Amino acid sequence: MRASTHSSRPGQPRDRLARALEEAADQGRLAPSVHNTQPWTFVLFRDRMELRADRSRQLPVLDPNGRELFQSVGAALFNVRAALSARGFAVVVERLPGPADPDLLAVVRPVEGEPDPVLAVLARAIPRRHTNRRPFGPATVSDEIVDRLAEATAAEESLLVPVRSPGQRALVAALTQQADRLQNADRAYREELRQWTSRTPAQGDGVTASSVPLTTGVRTDAVPLRDFDTRGTGGLPARTGSGTDQTLVLIATAQDDPAAWLRSGEALERLLLELTRREWVAGPITQALEVPATRHRLSELTTPAHPQMLLRIGRAAPADGTPLRPRRTVVENTTRPAPSVQPPTPPSRRTPAESGPRPVSDGRGGTTWL
Ligand SMILES: Cc1cc2nc3c(=O)[nH]c(=O)nc-3n(C[C@H](O)[C@H](O)[C@H](O)COP(=O)(O)O)c2cc1C
Repeated sequence: MRASTHSSRPGQPRDRLARALEEAADQGRLAPSVHNTQPWTFVLFRDRMELRADRSRQLPVLDPNGRELFQSVGAALFNVRAALSARGFAVVVERLPGPADPDLLAVVRPVEGEPDPVLAVLARAIPRRHTNRRPFGPATVSDEIVDRLAEATAAEESLLVPVRSPGQRALVAALTQQADRLQNADRAYREELRQWTSRTPAQGDGVTASSVPLTTGVRTDAVPLRDFDTRGTGGLPARTGSGTDQTLVLIATAQDDPAAWLRSGEALERLLLELTRREWVAGPITQALEVPATRHRLSELTTPAHPQMLLRIGRAAPADGTPLRPRRTVVENTTRPAPSVQPPTPPSRRTPAESGPRPVSDGRGGTTWL
Protein backbone atom coordinates (compact mmCIF):
# COMPACT_ATOMS: atom_id res chain seq x y z
CA MET A 1 0.00 0.00 0.00
CA ARG A 2 1.29 3.42 -0.90
CA ALA A 3 1.60 5.85 2.01
CA SER A 4 -0.32 9.03 1.37
CA THR A 5 0.82 11.90 3.51
CA HIS A 6 -0.03 15.55 3.42
CA SER A 7 3.53 16.60 2.70
CA SER A 8 4.05 14.10 -0.11
CA ARG A 9 1.63 15.89 -2.39
CA PRO A 10 3.58 17.42 -5.27
CA GLY A 11 4.75 20.95 -4.61
CA GLN A 12 3.52 21.19 -1.02
CA PRO A 13 6.76 21.50 0.96
CA ARG A 14 8.07 23.75 -1.75
CA ASP A 15 5.02 26.00 -1.49
CA ARG A 16 5.46 26.17 2.24
CA LEU A 17 9.07 27.18 1.81
CA ALA A 18 8.26 29.75 -0.87
CA ARG A 19 5.58 31.29 1.33
CA ALA A 20 7.90 31.40 4.31
CA LEU A 21 10.61 33.15 2.28
CA GLU A 22 8.13 35.71 0.95
CA GLU A 23 6.91 36.40 4.49
CA ALA A 24 10.45 36.58 5.82
CA ALA A 25 11.19 39.29 3.26
CA ASP A 26 8.11 41.20 4.46
CA GLN A 27 9.40 41.04 8.02
CA GLY A 28 12.90 42.01 6.92
CA ARG A 29 11.47 45.17 5.40
CA LEU A 30 10.26 46.29 8.85
CA ALA A 31 13.79 46.53 10.29
CA PRO A 32 15.29 49.82 11.50
CA SER A 33 17.79 51.51 9.20
CA VAL A 34 19.91 54.61 9.40
CA HIS A 35 17.78 57.61 8.26
CA ASN A 36 15.21 54.99 7.17
CA THR A 37 17.29 54.44 4.03
CA GLN A 38 16.25 50.74 3.88
CA PRO A 39 19.50 49.96 2.04
CA TRP A 40 18.65 46.35 1.21
CA THR A 41 17.37 43.96 -1.41
CA PHE A 42 15.85 40.56 -0.59
CA VAL A 43 16.43 38.14 -3.47
CA LEU A 44 14.26 35.03 -3.30
CA PHE A 45 15.29 31.62 -4.64
CA ARG A 46 13.59 28.25 -4.40
CA ASP A 47 15.71 27.17 -1.43
CA ARG A 48 17.17 30.36 0.02
CA MET A 49 17.14 34.10 0.31
CA GLU A 50 20.02 36.44 -0.43
CA LEU A 51 20.31 39.75 1.39
CA ARG A 52 22.10 42.36 -0.64
CA ALA A 53 23.32 45.84 0.26
CA ASP A 54 21.97 48.64 -1.90
CA ARG A 55 24.99 50.94 -2.00
CA SER A 56 23.03 53.63 -3.81
CA ARG A 57 21.36 54.18 -0.41
CA GLN A 58 24.56 54.56 1.60
CA LEU A 59 24.96 57.96 3.31
CA PRO A 60 28.28 59.30 1.96
CA VAL A 61 28.64 62.06 4.55
CA LEU A 62 27.32 60.35 7.69
CA ASP A 63 28.49 56.85 6.86
CA PRO A 64 31.44 56.95 4.44
CA ASN A 65 32.60 53.41 5.36
CA GLY A 66 29.17 51.86 5.16
CA ARG A 67 29.28 50.75 8.79
CA GLU A 68 25.70 51.82 9.46
CA LEU A 69 24.54 50.43 6.12
CA PHE A 70 25.86 47.03 7.24
CA GLN A 71 24.15 47.46 10.62
CA SER A 72 20.86 48.24 8.90
CA VAL A 73 21.10 45.14 6.70
CA GLY A 74 22.09 43.15 9.80
CA ALA A 75 18.88 44.25 11.50
CA ALA A 76 16.88 43.11 8.45
CA LEU A 77 18.78 39.81 8.50
CA PHE A 78 17.74 39.25 12.10
CA ASN A 79 14.08 39.78 11.19
CA VAL A 80 14.41 37.28 8.33
CA ARG A 81 15.92 34.67 10.68
CA ALA A 82 13.20 35.30 13.28
CA ALA A 83 10.39 35.13 10.71
CA LEU A 84 11.64 31.82 9.31
CA SER A 85 11.91 30.43 12.85
CA ALA A 86 8.32 31.48 13.48
CA ARG A 87 7.30 29.60 10.31
CA GLY A 88 8.87 26.44 11.74
CA PHE A 89 12.20 26.39 9.93
CA ALA A 90 15.71 25.93 11.23
CA VAL A 91 17.97 28.42 9.49
CA VAL A 92 21.57 28.33 8.25
CA VAL A 93 23.14 31.72 7.58
CA GLU A 94 26.25 32.36 5.55
CA ARG A 95 27.47 35.90 6.23
CA LEU A 96 29.62 37.79 3.70
CA PRO A 97 30.09 34.67 1.58
CA GLY A 98 32.73 36.02 -0.75
CA PRO A 99 34.83 39.04 -1.71
CA ALA A 100 33.90 38.54 -5.38
CA ASP A 101 30.42 39.85 -4.60
CA PRO A 102 30.87 42.43 -1.82
CA ASP A 103 27.23 43.54 -1.83
CA LEU A 104 26.01 40.04 -1.01
CA LEU A 105 25.89 40.33 2.77
CA ALA A 106 24.11 37.11 3.69
CA VAL A 107 22.59 33.91 2.32
CA VAL A 108 19.80 32.48 4.47
CA ARG A 109 18.76 28.84 3.98
CA PRO A 110 15.76 27.31 5.72
CA VAL A 111 16.68 23.69 6.52
CA GLU A 112 15.18 20.66 8.22
CA GLY A 113 15.56 20.78 11.99
CA GLU A 114 14.29 22.43 15.12
CA PRO A 115 13.47 26.13 14.68
CA ASP A 116 15.01 28.46 17.25
CA PRO A 117 12.18 28.94 19.79
CA VAL A 118 13.51 32.25 21.10
CA LEU A 119 13.67 33.77 17.63
CA ALA A 120 10.17 32.48 16.91
CA VAL A 121 8.85 34.37 19.94
CA LEU A 122 10.75 37.53 19.03
CA ALA A 123 9.24 37.49 15.54
CA ARG A 124 5.89 38.46 17.05
CA ALA A 125 7.35 41.79 18.18
CA ILE A 126 8.65 42.80 14.73
CA PRO A 127 5.58 44.79 13.59
CA ARG A 128 5.33 46.57 16.97
CA ARG A 129 8.93 47.81 17.10
CA HIS A 130 9.42 51.44 16.16
CA THR A 131 12.12 53.96 16.97
CA ASN A 132 10.66 56.15 19.70
CA ARG A 133 11.75 59.80 20.02
CA ARG A 134 9.12 60.85 22.54
CA PRO A 135 9.87 62.00 26.09
CA PHE A 136 10.41 58.87 28.18
CA GLY A 137 8.88 58.39 31.65
CA PRO A 138 11.07 58.04 34.73
CA ALA A 139 11.22 54.21 34.73
CA THR A 140 14.61 52.67 34.07
CA VAL A 141 15.47 49.10 33.10
CA SER A 142 16.38 46.89 36.08
CA ASP A 143 19.82 45.26 36.31
CA GLU A 144 18.14 41.88 36.01
CA ILE A 145 16.57 42.77 32.66
CA VAL A 146 19.83 44.35 31.50
CA ASP A 147 21.52 41.00 32.21
CA ARG A 148 18.92 39.25 30.04
CA LEU A 149 19.49 41.80 27.29
CA ALA A 150 23.23 41.19 27.56
CA GLU A 151 22.60 37.47 26.95
CA ALA A 152 20.53 38.32 23.87
CA THR A 153 23.30 40.56 22.53
CA ALA A 154 25.95 37.93 23.26
CA ALA A 155 23.97 35.42 21.19
CA GLU A 156 24.71 37.71 18.22
CA GLU A 157 28.45 37.81 18.98
CA SER A 158 28.16 41.33 20.37
CA LEU A 159 28.60 42.87 23.77
CA LEU A 160 26.09 44.94 25.72
CA VAL A 161 27.78 47.66 27.77
CA PRO A 162 25.40 49.46 30.14
CA VAL A 163 26.38 53.08 30.77
CA ARG A 164 26.09 53.10 34.54
CA SER A 165 28.40 55.29 36.60
CA PRO A 166 27.92 59.07 36.76
CA GLY A 167 31.31 59.50 35.08
CA GLN A 168 30.37 57.19 32.19
CA ARG A 169 27.03 58.92 31.74
CA ALA A 170 28.67 62.34 31.72
CA LEU A 171 31.17 61.14 29.11
CA VAL A 172 28.42 59.81 26.82
CA ALA A 173 26.52 63.10 27.17
CA ALA A 174 29.57 65.26 26.48
CA LEU A 175 30.62 63.20 23.45
CA THR A 176 27.10 63.15 21.99
CA GLN A 177 26.84 66.93 22.37
CA GLN A 178 30.27 67.41 20.81
CA ALA A 179 29.52 65.12 17.85
CA ASP A 180 26.10 66.68 17.36
CA ARG A 181 27.65 70.18 17.26
CA LEU A 182 30.35 69.11 14.80
CA GLN A 183 27.86 67.39 12.50
CA ASN A 184 25.42 70.29 12.47
CA ALA A 185 28.23 72.71 11.66
CA ASP A 186 28.92 70.71 8.49
CA ARG A 187 26.93 71.95 5.51
CA ALA A 188 27.23 68.58 3.69
CA TYR A 189 25.83 66.76 6.72
CA ARG A 190 22.90 69.15 6.92
CA GLU A 191 22.22 68.78 3.20
CA GLU A 192 22.23 64.98 3.47
CA LEU A 193 19.88 65.17 6.44
CA ARG A 194 17.60 67.54 4.53
CA GLN A 195 17.43 65.07 1.62
CA TRP A 196 16.34 62.22 3.90
CA THR A 197 13.75 64.35 5.69
CA SER A 198 12.15 65.66 2.47
CA ARG A 199 10.96 62.48 0.81
CA THR A 200 7.69 61.98 -1.01
CA PRO A 201 5.22 59.35 0.22
CA ALA A 202 5.80 57.46 -3.04
CA GLN A 203 9.47 57.02 -2.21
CA GLY A 204 8.48 55.36 1.05
CA ASP A 205 11.69 56.10 2.90
CA GLY A 206 13.38 58.78 5.00
CA VAL A 207 12.41 60.20 8.37
CA THR A 208 9.01 61.92 8.58
CA ALA A 209 8.34 65.11 10.54
CA SER A 210 5.63 63.33 12.52
CA SER A 211 8.18 60.94 14.05
CA VAL A 212 10.66 63.54 15.33
CA PRO A 213 10.66 66.18 18.08
CA LEU A 214 10.03 69.78 17.17
CA THR A 215 13.25 71.80 17.27
CA THR A 216 12.65 75.14 18.89
CA GLY A 217 16.10 76.68 18.81
CA VAL A 218 18.05 76.20 22.03
CA ARG A 219 18.76 72.53 22.64
CA THR A 220 18.91 71.58 26.29
CA ASP A 221 18.91 67.75 26.34
CA ALA A 222 22.03 66.32 27.99
CA VAL A 223 22.14 63.44 25.48
CA PRO A 224 20.67 65.19 22.42
CA LEU A 225 18.71 63.21 19.89
CA ARG A 226 19.65 63.83 16.29
CA ASP A 227 17.89 66.95 15.05
CA PHE A 228 15.82 65.60 12.17
CA ASP A 229 13.47 68.59 12.22
CA THR A 230 14.97 70.30 9.19
CA ARG A 231 11.75 72.23 8.44
CA GLY A 232 10.64 73.22 11.92
CA THR A 233 7.57 70.97 11.64
CA GLY A 234 8.49 68.16 14.02
CA GLY A 235 5.38 66.48 15.38
CA LEU A 236 6.68 65.28 18.77
CA PRO A 237 7.29 67.37 21.91
CA ALA A 238 10.42 69.51 21.72
CA ARG A 239 11.69 68.43 25.15
CA THR A 240 12.64 64.77 24.91
CA GLY A 241 14.09 64.61 28.43
CA SER A 242 16.99 62.63 26.98
CA GLY A 243 19.26 62.96 30.00
CA THR A 244 21.98 61.15 31.86
CA ASP A 245 19.43 59.58 34.20
CA GLN A 246 17.74 57.43 31.52
CA THR A 247 18.83 53.88 30.68
CA LEU A 248 21.67 54.06 28.17
CA VAL A 249 23.43 51.05 26.67
CA LEU A 250 26.17 50.59 24.14
CA ILE A 251 26.55 47.66 21.75
CA ALA A 252 30.16 46.77 21.04
CA THR A 253 32.02 44.12 19.03
CA ALA A 254 35.44 42.48 19.33
CA GLN A 255 36.40 43.41 15.77
CA ASP A 256 35.59 46.52 13.79
CA ASP A 257 35.10 45.17 10.28
CA PRO A 258 32.13 44.54 7.95
CA ALA A 259 31.38 41.16 9.55
CA ALA A 260 31.23 42.78 12.99
CA TRP A 261 29.08 45.65 11.69
CA LEU A 262 26.60 43.17 10.23
CA ARG A 263 26.56 41.18 13.48
CA SER A 264 26.04 44.33 15.56
CA GLY A 265 22.98 45.12 13.43
CA GLU A 266 21.60 41.67 14.20
CA ALA A 267 22.34 42.30 17.89
CA LEU A 268 20.62 45.68 17.71
CA GLU A 269 17.41 44.22 16.31
CA ARG A 270 17.46 41.29 18.72
CA LEU A 271 17.81 43.74 21.58
CA LEU A 272 15.06 46.01 20.24
CA LEU A 273 12.67 43.08 19.85
CA GLU A 274 13.47 41.84 23.36
CA LEU A 275 12.63 45.34 24.62
CA THR A 276 9.45 45.60 22.54
CA ARG A 277 8.31 42.23 23.86
CA ARG A 278 8.69 43.61 27.39
CA GLU A 279 6.84 46.86 26.52
CA TRP A 280 9.98 49.02 26.64
CA VAL A 281 10.69 51.51 23.87
CA ALA A 282 14.05 52.64 22.57
CA GLY A 283 15.87 54.82 20.10
CA PRO A 284 19.41 54.92 18.73
CA ILE A 285 21.48 58.06 19.39
CA THR A 286 24.47 57.55 17.17
CA GLN A 287 26.09 60.94 16.55
CA ALA A 288 29.06 60.11 18.82
CA LEU A 289 29.60 56.86 16.90
CA GLU A 290 29.84 58.72 13.58
CA VAL A 291 32.52 61.31 14.33
CA PRO A 292 35.89 59.49 14.48
CA ALA A 293 37.26 61.54 17.42
CA THR A 294 34.21 61.03 19.63
CA ARG A 295 33.91 57.37 18.68
CA HIS A 296 37.53 56.92 19.73
CA ARG A 297 36.82 58.48 23.14
CA LEU A 298 33.65 56.41 23.50
CA SER A 299 35.74 53.27 23.10
CA GLU A 300 37.11 54.02 26.60
CA LEU A 301 33.83 52.54 27.83
CA THR A 302 33.97 49.39 25.72
CA THR A 303 37.68 48.66 25.37
CA PRO A 304 39.02 46.31 24.10
CA ALA A 305 35.77 46.02 22.13
CA HIS A 306 34.67 48.64 19.60
CA PRO A 307 31.51 50.70 20.19
CA GLN A 308 28.89 50.28 17.46
CA MET A 309 25.61 51.67 18.82
CA LEU A 310 24.19 53.82 21.63
CA LEU A 311 20.57 53.28 22.65
CA ARG A 312 18.28 55.09 25.05
CA ILE A 313 15.62 52.88 26.59
CA GLY A 314 12.49 53.79 28.52
CA ARG A 315 8.72 53.81 28.71
CA ALA A 316 6.65 56.04 26.45
CA ALA A 317 3.52 56.10 24.36
CA PRO A 318 3.99 54.03 21.21
CA ALA A 319 5.59 55.62 18.18
CA ASP A 320 3.97 55.65 14.75
CA GLY A 321 5.02 53.40 11.93
CA THR A 322 7.47 54.71 9.40
CA PRO A 323 7.30 54.79 5.57
CA LEU A 324 8.33 51.65 3.72
CA ARG A 325 9.75 51.41 0.21
CA PRO A 326 7.37 49.73 -2.24
CA ARG A 327 7.76 45.97 -1.91
CA ARG A 328 8.53 45.43 -5.59
CA THR A 329 11.62 47.66 -5.30
CA VAL A 330 13.16 45.61 -2.48
CA VAL A 331 12.01 42.01 -3.05
CA GLU A 332 13.36 40.34 -6.20
CA ASN A 333 12.04 37.13 -7.76
CA THR A 334 8.84 37.45 -5.80
CA THR A 335 5.88 35.47 -7.00
CA ARG A 336 3.53 37.61 -5.00
CA PRO A 337 2.53 41.06 -6.23
CA ALA A 338 1.08 42.33 -2.95
CA PRO A 339 2.80 42.21 0.47
CA SER A 340 1.38 39.69 2.94
CA VAL A 341 2.11 42.10 5.79
CA GLN A 342 0.61 45.52 5.29
CA PRO A 343 3.20 48.19 6.02
CA PRO A 344 2.27 50.51 8.86
CA THR A 345 0.53 53.55 7.43
CA PRO A 346 2.48 56.70 8.18
CA PRO A 347 0.38 59.69 9.12
CA SER A 348 -0.59 61.58 5.98
CA ARG A 349 1.43 64.67 5.29
CA ARG A 350 1.37 67.25 2.59
CA THR A 351 4.31 66.93 0.25
CA PRO A 352 6.21 69.98 -1.04
CA ALA A 353 4.72 69.25 -4.46
CA GLU A 354 1.23 69.47 -3.04
CA SER A 355 1.75 72.62 -1.03
CA GLY A 356 4.08 74.60 -3.31
CA PRO A 357 7.24 76.30 -2.11
CA ARG A 358 6.97 78.39 1.03
CA PRO A 359 9.50 79.72 3.52
CA VAL A 360 9.63 77.96 6.89
CA SER A 361 11.94 78.02 9.89
CA ASP A 362 14.82 75.60 9.55
CA GLY A 363 14.63 75.00 13.29
CA ARG A 364 17.98 76.65 13.83
CA GLY A 365 16.98 80.28 13.57
CA GLY A 366 17.18 80.35 9.76
CA THR A 367 14.70 79.98 6.92
CA THR A 368 14.39 77.24 4.39
CA TRP A 369 12.13 76.79 1.36
CA LEU A 370 9.67 73.95 1.54
C1 LIG B 1 22.55 52.20 12.33
C2 LIG B 1 21.38 53.06 12.77
C3 LIG B 1 21.60 54.32 13.29
C4 LIG B 1 20.54 55.11 13.72
N1 LIG B 1 20.78 56.33 14.29
C5 LIG B 1 19.75 57.08 14.75
C6 LIG B 1 19.99 58.31 15.43
O1 LIG B 1 21.12 58.74 15.63
N2 LIG B 1 18.91 59.01 15.88
C7 LIG B 1 17.63 58.56 15.73
O2 LIG B 1 16.71 59.23 16.17
N3 LIG B 1 17.38 57.39 15.08
C8 LIG B 1 18.41 56.63 14.61
N4 LIG B 1 18.17 55.44 14.00
C9 LIG B 1 16.78 54.98 13.83
C10 LIG B 1 16.31 55.19 12.40
O3 LIG B 1 16.14 56.57 12.12
C11 LIG B 1 15.01 54.41 12.21
O4 LIG B 1 15.29 53.04 12.33
C12 LIG B 1 14.36 54.67 10.87
O5 LIG B 1 13.93 56.00 10.75
C13 LIG B 1 13.15 53.73 10.66
O6 LIG B 1 12.21 53.91 11.69
P1 LIG B 1 11.76 52.71 12.62
O7 LIG B 1 12.98 52.28 13.41
O8 LIG B 1 10.69 53.28 13.49
O9 LIG B 1 11.29 51.59 11.74
C14 LIG B 1 19.22 54.63 13.58
C15 LIG B 1 19.00 53.35 13.06
C16 LIG B 1 20.06 52.56 12.68
C17 LIG B 1 19.81 51.17 12.15
